[in-house]
Amino acid sequence: MRAIVYEKTGDSDVLWLAERPVPEPGPGEVRVRVVRSGVNPTDWKSRRGRLEFPEAVPNQDGSGVVDAVGPGVEGLRPGERVWLWEAAWQRPGGTAQEYVVLPERQAVPLPDGASFDLGASLGIPALTAHRCLTVADGGPDRLAPGALDGRTVLVAGGAGAVGNAAVQLARWAGAVVVTTVSSEEKAALARAAGASHVVNYREEDAAGAIRAAAPDGIDIVVEVAPGPNAELDAAVLAPDGVVAVYANTGGDEITVRVRDLFTRNIRYQFVLVYTVTEAAKLAAVEDVSAAVAAGAIRVGAEAGLPLHRFPLERTAEAHDAVEAGTVGKVLVDVAGDE
Ligand SMILES: NC(=O)c1ccc[n+]([C@@H]2O[C@H](COP(=O)([O-])OP(=O)(O)OC[C@H]3O[C@@H](n4cnc5c(N)ncnc54)[C@H](OP(=O)(O)O)[C@@H]3O)[C@@H](O)[C@H]2O)c1
Repeated sequence: MRAIVYEKTGDSDVLWLAERPVPEPGPGEVRVRVVRSGVNPTDWKSRRGRLEFPEAVPNQDGSGVVDAVGPGVEGLRPGERVWLWEAAWQRPGGTAQEYVVLPERQAVPLPDGASFDLGASLGIPALTAHRCLTVADGGPDRLAPGALDGRTVLVAGGAGAVGNAAVQLARWAGAVVVTTVSSEEKAALARAAGASHVVNYREEDAAGAIRAAAPDGIDIVVEVAPGPNAELDAAVLAPDGVVAVYANTGGDEITVRVRDLFTRNIRYQFVLVYTVTEAAKLAAVEDVSAAVAAGAIRVGAEAGLPLHRFPLERTAEAHDAVEAGTVGKVLVDVAGDE
């Protein structure tokens, strides 16, 4: 089979197209014929980071068709369409290859009608967004229609991949969703994702515009840039509100006015998708699948997430596109849709 591999870390030119034997699933594992591989910032960061195996295949997210199951696998059968999460987390084999073996729970049935493109776009962004939306004191700890009724959510950067998933999931769950963007192009995408109010944080009085949209304040901030936005977040949070921080865009330090925050019982909650509790992870996987089945999560420009495609042999360019901040979702075509 064809596989993109790297034996040393560095620029994207460490990635090369190799021929490798088709892997066999062990106990509790499934083998998936990969159709689409999804690229996230974590994939190029890992490729630049520390290599934990003699050779690695990049990319955590993907979608495809179950091809073989190992001993003890009962929940999945060959022929089932699935979406994949964390394929390369503490494992050498990601989704940039024609066949991937992974634990059964990391291959999730793809609801009827959901495309392989959508399946490969879920993993990291949707599971991260789910966690950010479910860490508030008093819940909800699950997302479903009505779960966020009466709540206000501020998504920083609603045209980003995680931001887009957060907007779509929060709307599905009934929240009033306000989002910030940096340009008119991104504002159009955030509106297409379903945001109720879109604020250009470069041009407007962002705090005033968010306050106008959510007069009682924001209950949950899904935050990509906690340093640059610390003052803005403090200005718009409701009492008992939470800032769910999943990245350090714009700087690794935050300055806050402690008294201002403790008098309002504000919480900062940091989120790393890989290491959330098992219960939180499985809840996220289930709820995201339910949202997909309901047609509430979509991809493409019409859903605020334009798709950019690369063939498998150009995975290095796909990594570069993500690192350069391409707006939308970068996908690698490993095989054609059937
Ligand atoms: N902790 C975790 O588990 C986890 C999970 C997933 C991703 N991440 C990290 O999260 C980051 C984003 O990932 P992604 O896939 O969503 O990337 P992406 O698609 O490139 O989106 C990043 C977004 O951040 C926005 N942004 C930058 N500065 C901002 C600011 N000051 N205020 C508001 N928005 C701002 C950008 O929008 P504008 O240009 O409009 O500002 C952009 O849309 C990456 O660093 C990634 O590694 C972490």
